[in-house]
Amino acid sequence: MAEVVIVPSAAAAGVLVADEIAALIRRQPDAVLGLATGSTPLPVYEALRPRLTGIDVSRVRGFALDEYVGIDPHHPESYRSVITREVVEPLGLNPDLIHTPNGSLETIEHAGDDYDRAIADAGGIDLQILGIGTSGHIGFNEPGSSFASRTRVKTLIEQTREDNARFFDSIDDVPMHCITQGLGTILEARHLFLLAFGENKAAAVAGAVEGPVTASLPGSAIQLHPHVTVVVDEAAASQLQDADYYRYAFANKPDWQGL
Ligand code: F6R
Repeated sequence: MAEVVIVPSAAAAGVLVADEIAALIRRQPDAVLGLATGSTPLPVYEALRPRLTGIDVSRVRGFALDEYVGIDPHHPESYRSVITREVVEPLGLNPDLIHTPNGSLETIEHAGDDYDRAIADAGGIDLQILGIGTSGHIGFNEPGSSFASRTRVKTLIEQTREDNARFFDSIDDVPMHCITQGLGTILEARHLFLLAFGENKAAAVAGAVEGPVTASLPGSAIQLHPHVTVVVDEAAASQLQDADYYRYAFANKPDWQGL
């Protein structure tokens, strides 16, 4: 079962996860991070910055979860741009070691295979940060995605395009297609951190953590992974039936156990 940690705020979640990432980089300077975009991981990246002071990050490697297909990589909302702006530059990472799936139409037929191969060549992802969509997607694996899926092109559902319209001038500007790590790809990462904040994520979180394991709610794939930490605020935890147990278990967690 995933460990569920209920925190008072998104900022507190950021600190908790950033501490883990900083510790990972300290003991393994060439750690491979799985990077999410969107609003959810921003408190992590913000909390990470002061924690990396004095730590050599020149060998840290990273793989983003997804990218829009056909978007100009220099568009401010391409995930390449977002990762550069929110992660690479503020944290001082080496941009050559931080990868996003290639959404260019010219190479799209083999871009998924190329990406999975690059992750494998790096030795796999040590720590994967995940958000969850209101549809229950992780990465851009929309409902119906195979649990065995690899990095590939998907069509975004209307709900996701509406949710992401806030980053663009209008919903019409939100690309229809994306290239995303598959659920099978994500499940190969060694430690998953799934974060969610706010009431609008409560149903997806409850489904992912406590619901049946079903392709209809792709986030439920985390139940198949041996090492998952779900970090949620009170609002996102509000539909969890066993919230009291999660609080009790975390409050009584042995110090030696770690996350
Ligand atoms: C982003 C990603 C998505 C988001 C999800 C939540 O790389 O893969 O799964 O994590 O759509 O988005 P936010 O965090 O903006 O609510």
